[in-house]
Amino acid sequence: MLERRIQINNEADVVRTTLLIRHTLEAHCKASEAMLISTATSELATNLVRYAKGGFIRFTFDDVCRKISIESRDNGPGIVDIEQAMQEGYSSGKGLGAGLPAIKRIMDTMQIENSPQGGLRIWVQCKLKSSLI
Ligand SMILES: Nc1ncnc2c1ncn2[C@@H]1O[C@H](COP(=O)(O)OP(=O)(O)O)[C@@H](O)[C@H]1O
Ligand SMILES: [Mg+2]
Repeated sequence: MLERRIQINNEADVVRTTLLIRHTLEAHCKASEAMLISTATSELATNLVRYAKGGFIRFTFDDVCRKISIESRDNGPGIVDIEQAMQEGYSSGKGLGAGLPAIKRIMDTMQIENSPQGGLRIWVQCKLKSSLI
């Protein structure tokens, strides 16, 4: 079981975290699958920098169940209309609005909620489907 909590403040943190996830998973599944899950992580982390002035990513990887959970948390403004934010092409900024829908497609489960204390929490999970051999 591997668990990490990484503070995300800038683009360099996004890249570092994305690579950490990719390298961790590449030891357990095909490179293409590791790449997809690291892309989902990159989208979560990029949103933290863009929309919440930073936050953190916490991930746990269970190598026995081959299951990864990734949580993104911040103290930003949260999202007023979550349904709208989940729509393909919607961005409140200058983005493509493709990040959240892509995460939903890639991962098995996705929960998104405004924390009662303020800020946003997104929690996603995925079981690895491919094997190395
Ligand atoms: N951590 C966050 N805090 C506040 N709003 C967010 C956060 N993440 C995403 N959003 C909102 O959800 C929208 C859609 O996100 P996304 O699909 O990644 O598109 P994009 O990043 O291109 O805007 C964003 O434009 C933003 O309004
Ligand atoms: Mg985005």
